[in-house]
Amino acid sequence: MNPSQPAARVTTNDKTDERRDSLTVTDNRTGKTQDLPITSETVRALDLRPMKVQADDFGLMSYDPAFTNTALCKSAITFIDGDKGILRYRGYPIEDLAEKSTYLETAYLILYGELPSGPQLDEWTYHISHHTFIHESIKKFLEGFHYDAHPMGMLISTIAALSTFYPDARDIFNKESRRKQTHRLIGKMPTLAAFAYRHSLGMPYAYPDSELSYAGNFLNMLFKTTEQKYRPNPTLEHALDVLFILHADHEQNCSANAMRCVGSSHVDPFSAAAAATAALYGPLHGGANEEVLHMLVEIGSIRNVPAYIKRVKAGEKKLMGFGHRIYKNYDPRARIIKGIADQVFEVMGRNALLDIALECERIALEDEYFITRRLYPNVDFYTGLIYQSMGFPASMFPVLFAIPRTSGWIAQWEEMLLDPEQKIARPRQIYVGHEQRPYVPMDSRD
Ligand code: ACO
Repeated sequence: MNPSQPAARVTTNDKTDERRDSLTVTDNRTGKTQDLPITSETVRALDLRPMKVQADDFGLMSYDPAFTNTALCKSAITFIDGDKGILRYRGYPIEDLAEKSTYLETAYLILYGELPSGPQLDEWTYHISHHTFIHESIKKFLEGFHYDAHPMGMLISTIAALSTFYPDARDIFNKESRRKQTHRLIGKMPTLAAFAYRHSLGMPYAYPDSELSYAGNFLNMLFKTTEQKYRPNPTLEHALDVLFILHADHEQNCSANAMRCVGSSHVDPFSAAAAATAALYGPLHGGANEEVLHMLVEIGSIRNVPAYIKRVKAGEKKLMGFGHRIYKNYDPRARIIKGIADQVFEVMGRNALLDIALECERIALEDEYFITRRLYPNVDFYTGLIYQSMGFPASMFPVLFAIPRTSGWIAQWEEMLLDPEQKIARPRQIYVGHEQRPYVPMDSRD
């Protein structure tokens, strides 16, 4: 069906059947009744359009600021049941993937719909690990940033700059081209991120090592100093890989929506991914893990937790890392992350802020304010503590989110491009401004 056309009225002689799969609405302004087909628990907003008072009216729209109850697409990538705390990629529970898979295997699953065979995984890994180098000009480009530039700002800019190096990326309806850009984006994200980090420290860049795993090579580019060959600590390498799996996709969140929305103009995937990374930078999204750490430092001691919670309840503060638009239960990723935290702390020593975090969680989970609003720890509540223990500064936390989320963004983008129902994203508005009025000359203005 052409999505720009309202669906035809359901016409069937069997009234019972009709009512089962349709919504009957009466426009009380006109007394007219309309049957809206229901598919997948959804009515099409465009089916409201025929409801008008005058023939030349625009017709009825739905109003949904922040898309809280609007499905933007049909998607086969990620399933979330926020009430039950379920997250699955392509049908596989996140708990199984975190325990048994690797980030690169999971990224393949997310992108291509099935777990790879052995040869497919080898080929995929080969392509990703051979697209890790970046053009030397990107290094020069990074030199232009201030020493204290936020790595997310540098990351956004350098991802966008990739589009200038690969003009073939504009060939978005060519499957081979999309595959190539996928290798480039997933391969180069850790390099861009690590180079941004080294730039902020004033350290020479460490080049990719394609013999290491995806996470291991990232640690190499971040932390290599004088050693001939960097050998990542296996516990930290595994922890980072699991964190990458947990962050790989999360259906129609703010940054995936940015990727789809910007990509719907048929721009190249690097430009769309730069927009998605910008969306992730915000403190209500991927920037929250950085905010959690600042908050825990501000609280400073377990003794101060009750007073801080009091301020949260009074609306003066937010308990960062708590609450989620979709999860109204414990975020399943947060559970897995707590286990990973223990492994990392065993190697790196216990993070002093952990006790404050645990006390915040304990009090919040027993408190009426949080219970009635169904606010539970989300993925970001403990990740910051793990990253800090691994030696990352807080400004790198959202970067650590952006790297693995790239596979999800590309999958969402490709699904959008190949969906015949999708068009350029162009919401409507309810205009509440002035009616037409005459231009006021300068000397007549108040
Ligand atoms: N601390 C205190 N109160 C909160 C919090 C919080 N972290 N989150 C929500 N609430 C309150 C709201 O004030 C509101 O209260 P009210 O009904 O009295 O007005 C109620 O809970 C509902 O909250 P909304 O803001 O309507 O929920 P929404 O779904 O729009 O927001 C969001 C979700 C943005 C994640 C929110 O919970 C938040 O700001 N959390 C803190 C930031 C954070 O951790 N973000 C990371 C999200 S996970 C991710 O992006 C990977």
